[in-house]
Amino acid sequence: MSEENKITDLKQRIEKIEEGGGPKAMEKQKAMGKMTARERIEALLDPGTFHEYDMFVKHDSIDFGMQGKELPGDGVIIGTGDIGGAPVAVFAQDFTVAGGSLGFRHALKITKIMDYALNMRIPLIGINDSGGARIQEGVNALAGYGEIFFRNTLSSGVIPQISVILGPCAGGAVYSPALTDFVFVVENISKMFITGPEVIKTVLGEEISAEELGGAQVHSEITGNAHFFASSEPECFRQIRDLVSILPASNTKPAEKIAPEPPLQKYDISKIVPNDPAEPYDVRDVIRSLVDGSRFIEVMELFAANIVVGFARIHGETVGFVANQPMVLAGVLDCDSSDKAARFIRFCDSFNIPIITLEDLPGYLPGIDQEHAGVIRHGAKMLYAYSESTVPKITIIMRKAYGGGYIAMGSRHLRSDFVFSWPQAEIAVMGAEGAANIIFKKEITEAENPAEMRKLKIAEYRSKFANPYVAASKGYIDSVIEPGQTLQMIRHALKVAATKVAGRPAKKHGLPPF
Ligand code: HXC
Repeated sequence: MSEENKITDLKQRIEKIEEGGGPKAMEKQKAMGKMTARERIEALLDPGTFHEYDMFVKHDSIDFGMQGKELPGDGVIIGTGDIGGAPVAVFAQDFTVAGGSLGFRHALKITKIMDYALNMRIPLIGINDSGGARIQEGVNALAGYGEIFFRNTLSSGVIPQISVILGPCAGGAVYSPALTDFVFVVENISKMFITGPEVIKTVLGEEISAEELGGAQVHSEITGNAHFFASSEPECFRQIRDLVSILPASNTKPAEKIAPEPPLQKYDISKIVPNDPAEPYDVRDVIRSLVDGSRFIEVMELFAANIVVGFARIHGETVGFVANQPMVLAGVLDCDSSDKAARFIRFCDSFNIPIITLEDLPGYLPGIDQEHAGVIRHGAKMLYAYSESTVPKITIIMRKAYGGGYIAMGSRHLRSDFVFSWPQAEIAVMGAEGAANIIFKKEITEAENPAEMRKLKIAEYRSKFANPYVAASKGYIDSVIEPGQTLQMIRHALKVAATKVAGRPAKKHGLPPF
């Protein structure tokens, strides 16, 4: 074959593989409102930066009619490219080829790109659109998943791992994402389940739709498996690009510092938080009043909305926020919000992102539902996550800081580096009403006018504890500040803590209350 013919031959081979499962399967994919695997990669990366590897890999299974069956690329595309000029590693499963199912060669392609990502210390983004383990390949397919799970775990805390669910993902196709840091889903397109509706019908005799079983909303609002929800695939890829741009590429490299920008003037911190401790407000407006361009990337917005977590920049540098949300359940801590915050804190700590805590909560949610759901175990995760983290930690007590909530929300006792309080803060074991009922029970019941006595005792307790000065007198709070000074204090604290050195005793690993 002449040189020229060889090039023509190469081009033809590439073209054939790029057709994936063929025009009919591609049409079916489009009819479902889905982009193709190649279109997805294009939408995710900077234009023209994708470089593909292992395009010519073939499966070698022979059972159940698989011998000689053409599966272009074995149903997955791998490669590297750029997001905002910085390299990332990518794989995208192609549902048009055997339902994106994972055979052993398909798995080897994924593990190859995972190894690149880990060795090169660059983020990994996996686009999942797969029916799970390729049934015809039996234990070889399971082995492939095992290899992926092992690498997900090795890479955890070293490089950011992002999963995108863009189809009916079942079995191993959802366990690998569950081991990664951030899962993105798209309305009407993403489905996640261990076993699909067909299997449920066969095994349990129950009819259930894929959407009801594990649609995008289910995983964003109920299970907490998904961290970002989008209404279309292009929106999802924009979200991923924003997230990747604000994160460090690995645990050994800081996030890119960009030109600082002031927060938008419409967010005036002194007007956002009402004085009445019972009046709700949106804590995200407080965050927006502090961060560059008032841009806040919220993580798990729809799950456990009583706590808000996410990333932003202050003076050009990436920070993580953990904030009680008084607008939802008065901002209490419960099982789900504790899980959400603990995981986020551990992510920030792994990737050296300073944590800013905004505190305003009445404590942990009481009641039998929470107790039986394991609020002790889940709540303890927060205590563990704050205590073990060594990144710079800055806490602002804005209004209420009661009971376990005071300790859990980045208190000095769990080693926050700076704790600032606004003058309207109330720091006590519990609210004045509850406290007076317990410790002045005798005086109240024996008084001539119990209602009057109760009022008096509540006022007495409030004037003693419902302020920041008792905590400040013990040094638990570094400064009592005016709300308008908050940003200045945070910026200075970040500067001071930038060279922080903190240690924990050497161990193989700790045992957080999983
Ligand atoms: C082989 C598969 C497959 C699989 C789908 N296909 N899943 N081939 N192994 N796991 C093939 C189909 O045969 C079909 O091939 C093509 O993909 C498209 O599938 P359809 O069923 O036509 O598509 P749809 O109706 O959209 O349904 C998609 C689906 C369904 C919901 C994913 O296919 C399904 O329920 N598949 C099985 C899912 C499952 O239970 N997986 C668990 C595997 S166990 P043709 O040639 O007809 O186009 C597992 C263990 C991991 O993953 C362990 C982790 C701990």
